[in-house]
Amino acid sequence: MGIHEDISEILYTEEQLTATVKSLGESISRDYADKNLLLVSVLKGSVVFMADLMRAIHVPCAIDFLAVSSYGGSTSTSGEVRVLKDLDGPLEDKDLLIVEDILDSGVTLSFLMKMLSARHPRSIRICTLLDKPHRRRVPLQADYAGLTCPDEFIVGYGLDYDEKYRNLPYIGVLKPAIYSDSDSK
Ligand code: IMP
Ligand code: MG
Repeated sequence: MGIHEDISEILYTEEQLTATVKSLGESISRDYADKNLLLVSVLKGSVVFMADLMRAIHVPCAIDFLAVSSYGGSTSTSGEVRVLKDLDGPLEDKDLLIVEDILDSGVTLSFLMKMLSARHPRSIRICTLLDKPHRRRVPLQADYAGLTCPDEFIVGYGLDYDEKYRNLPYIGVLKPAIYSDSDSK
């Protein structure tokens, strides 16, 4: 069975995603021309976005990765965040830009903002590809946001359901039948 068959609707095509990432890259390049940019990708969801975004940025930058616990087999957050992999180095002279796939309840990013601010980077901002503003449980806004998306569970371009569908080149809505069984358990 192919992964495309589990998608009920394509929300953002490859072309739309490319255009969005290009425009985010241009804004970031403009704002960070004379800074010491460190892109921090939040694994694993942002890995596809990160790979494209860094190539849309044309000022010097370094990259690092963080891993936090995810939803697992569910489609809504448990409210708890756990660090599974921390950054490689200190942040004192860095202009940090956290790169996330999607800003949903805001729980993950507000936790990370607090944790990373405490390490005294020179500056700290958030770049998210997708924003679900109506789902917010903690007040938080991204400094750079690509697309505002509807309140639906979406997959592809790095976003997963139960670790699958990250390799879809577009973003789509998963057929409810795929997850309704496991969520009702
Ligand atoms: P938050 O802590 O609720 O803001 O959740 C952020 C994380 O939840 C993201 O990095 C995603 O991994 C995951 N997430 C939120 N909404 C979706 C979705 O619609 N599809 C897949 N993953 C999602
Ligand atoms: Mg996830």
